[in-house]
Amino acid sequence: MVKRCVDFAQTYYQPSVRSARKLGRALSNETFASAGDPRPVTRGEVLALQLKRLRCTLRHAYRNVDFYRRKFDAAGVRPEDCRTLADLARFPHTTKDDLREHYPYGMFAVPMDQVSRIHASSGTTGRPTVVGYTRRDVETWATLVARSIRAAGGRAGDKVHVAYGYGLFTGGLGAHYGAERLGCTVIPASGGMTARQVRLIADLRPEIIMATPTYLLTLLEEFERQGVDPRATALRVGILGAEPWTEQMRREIEGRLGIDAVDIYGLSEVMGPGVAQESVRTKDGLHVWEDHFSPEVVDPSTGEVLPDCVPGELVFTSLTKQALPVIRYRTGDLSQLLPGTAFPEFRRMARVTGRTDDMIILRGVNVFPTQIEQIVLDTPGLAPHFQIVLTRKGRMDHLTVRVESRADTPPDRARSAATEIARSVKDGVGVSIEVDVVSPATLERSAGKLRRVIDLRVQ
Ligand code: DLL
Repeated sequence: MVKRCVDFAQTYYQPSVRSARKLGRALSNETFASAGDPRPVTRGEVLALQLKRLRCTLRHAYRNVDFYRRKFDAAGVRPEDCRTLADLARFPHTTKDDLREHYPYGMFAVPMDQVSRIHASSGTTGRPTVVGYTRRDVETWATLVARSIRAAGGRAGDKVHVAYGYGLFTGGLGAHYGAERLGCTVIPASGGMTARQVRLIADLRPEIIMATPTYLLTLLEEFERQGVDPRATALRVGILGAEPWTEQMRREIEGRLGIDAVDIYGLSEVMGPGVAQESVRTKDGLHVWEDHFSPEVVDPSTGEVLPDCVPGELVFTSLTKQALPVIRYRTGDLSQLLPGTAFPEFRRMARVTGRTDDMIILRGVNVFPTQIEQIVLDTPGLAPHFQIVLTRKGRMDHLTVRVESRADTPPDRARSAATEIARSVKDGVGVSIEVDVVSPATLERSAGKLRRVIDLRVQ
């Protein structure tokens, strides 16, 4: 029988009566989505709240999830050993494999009759991971996505076109509930049927679009194909995420659509979209909503905690989740923690440069698709559509970048662009690659999360 952690539910943060000055600051702060989003105002308040919630979460996980009880016992730690935030480092990590081994519900911390929603990861490799939410988890999630949309420059009354897929993927429904919570009008387009989406954007005139950056490129092409001027829509902000993207991609999208494009981050195991959000005011990385998640960055090979401003793998501990608390979850995402700017009370995470498992090791050199993206998008005459193809010739691995030229690029410019890319990759990344400039509209287009790397090496 599952034991319930009553104090966990009761200590959920309640707004205290604040001084008029503090309340004034909170109201003028753009994260203040609605009266339903109580949140700490100073860094000190965030840290105090984190410790209180962390201790509750550790107790909740230990009491109600066999996996955590066994792991904590094996590591010789008990929830009460967490006296300061630094003590979190004494607790064991959780991985995607742990979730897979306990598929589907083995890591849930509440009885099934309290689980009101299920989502799952795509499971392209092996078993999918199944995640669950109580009614209150769904509420918290909506509040944090509302806060994220607000930080991105959205407001109540805006129309939000959600082009993230609806279904088991957290993108569509996560964005949907958050936009509704903020008081927006939601257009639940989901992914696919690109021609119809362009019509909807032109006719219904949403101010905000939420999509993966590569799917927004697919939409942009469709605008051009239909002869609709993408700069003449009502769109003002794009809230883009679910896959790595670069500053070069931001410039491409902002330039062609005439919008502000900002980054949203999240993962289903930790919640879904809305774990961290970039502010439209600063566009300098994503503020982690640290009143609900405790981020760490660790050395990907040793798991050792790294100081702020040092790149490594992101690790998250949930602080308010009921159905699926996660303790020190290894995301595989590479980033670094930075001090807050637009919201000084919350730290930022730098734009994710890639995943530990996306990293290509080419003749001993680490290559990330985002490094190639930066170079391709900085090379004049080329379209922002490219693929990375890995092959093996004899014992040697080869990397070919297939990239499309723009329709108006003369053939000799396309050839020199290929040479420039190969040279920039050699100089900047340190490996020799081949570059194949192909005709416009020949590479596969994104329908959501784009698969950038095609690995043709025999396993
Ligand atoms: O992709 C949740 C999401 C939906 C985030 C919509 C943002 C917008 P998963 O399918 O579980 O959840 O995939 C999570 O996607 O570990 C990262 O590798 C990647 N990812 C998510 N956001 C970003 C981002 C959703 N802004 C995995 N930049 C994560 C880079 C991202 N990678």
